[in-house]
Amino acid sequence: MSESLPSLLLIGCGQMGGALLEAWIGRGLAPSVVIDRHRETLPAPHRVVSSLENIPADFVPAAVILAVKPQKAQPVMEELAAHRPDIASSAVIVSVMAGLTTASIAETLRSQAPDATPAIVRAMPNTPSSIGRGMTGLYRAPNVTEAQKALCDTLLSAVGATVWVDEEDQINAVTAISGSGPAYIFLLAELLEKAACGLGLPDEVARLLARKTVSGAGELLEQSPEDAAELRRRVTSPGGTTAAAIAVLNAPANWPSNIPDAVAAARHRARELAS
Ligand SMILES: NC(=O)c1ccc[n+]([C@@H]2O[C@H](COP(=O)([O-])OP(=O)(O)OC[C@H]3O[C@@H](n4cnc5c(N)ncnc54)[C@H](OP(=O)(O)O)[C@@H]3O)[C@@H](O)[C@H]2O)c1
Repeated sequence: MSESLPSLLLIGCGQMGGALLEAWIGRGLAPSVVIDRHRETLPAPHRVVSSLENIPADFVPAAVILAVKPQKAQPVMEELAAHRPDIASSAVIVSVMAGLTTASIAETLRSQAPDATPAIVRAMPNTPSSIGRGMTGLYRAPNVTEAQKALCDTLLSAVGATVWVDEEDQINAVTAISGSGPAYIFLLAELLEKAACGLGLPDEVARLLARKTVSGAGELLEQSPEDAAELRRRVTSPGGTTAAAIAVLNAPANWPSNIPDAVAAARHRARELAS
């Protein structure tokens, strides 16, 4: 397969790191190294190693992807900078970790590699990235070059849409909307399915109705030039069945009024994790 994506060092190959890796390999990744304590092999020419100490000495990636849990990040970053200060200096460091700021990542790397001036990008992808339908918000620290920004955009565009924000704090809002957002939609599907069972439909019919409604409505929204509000209005004839349901949903104590509070709670938590 021809290569169209740069070489990577991927640290953390769980839900998110694994989903990104699969998509990147499918799209032609230059020879890369993945640190994974569970996996033994990867399709050639990629290599998997069990720890940072085992990164081949001649391997210098264009980008490092940090995809461990934020609470596990500090020793990983210290080890990277201690063993491979050359990589910490030359590669663009892309963190998908919620909460950790570019300043704190730079400080941790520089604690072990004082001469390094790491170029750090924060990326907040979401799980539909695993099927190439992701939404990633990105922020770059001021010292990240245009070429490094373009490289990160190429990487994350390979798994869906990308958008860059100008202020680092806006990444917390991205986290609250598109990072966590798939869970809100899955909750809706879950509740619709339960409600369908409550109306007496067989389980498998309830599941099919809920899933196809959520995925079909999502696809229609994607393909339509209209706003979500307009698409909703088109389904809602005055005095009809949908209007009866929307009137209940829109009552002050019900869930649509809770959406702003819900995303504010997610952003608050993202900010807490950053402090
Ligand atoms: N899931 C999402 O929807 C989502 C969305 C956006 C961003 N993120 C971010 O993505 C990051 C990872 O989340 P996740 O959901 O993918 O978590 P996860 O499934 O727990 O994956 C984390 C992975 O990191 C590995 N790891 C931990 N320490 C390591 C080390 N020293 N060297 C190499 N690998 C190590 C873990 O392996 P072990 O099992 O061996 O510990 C695990 O496979 C988080 O920072 C999160 O904020 C997630």
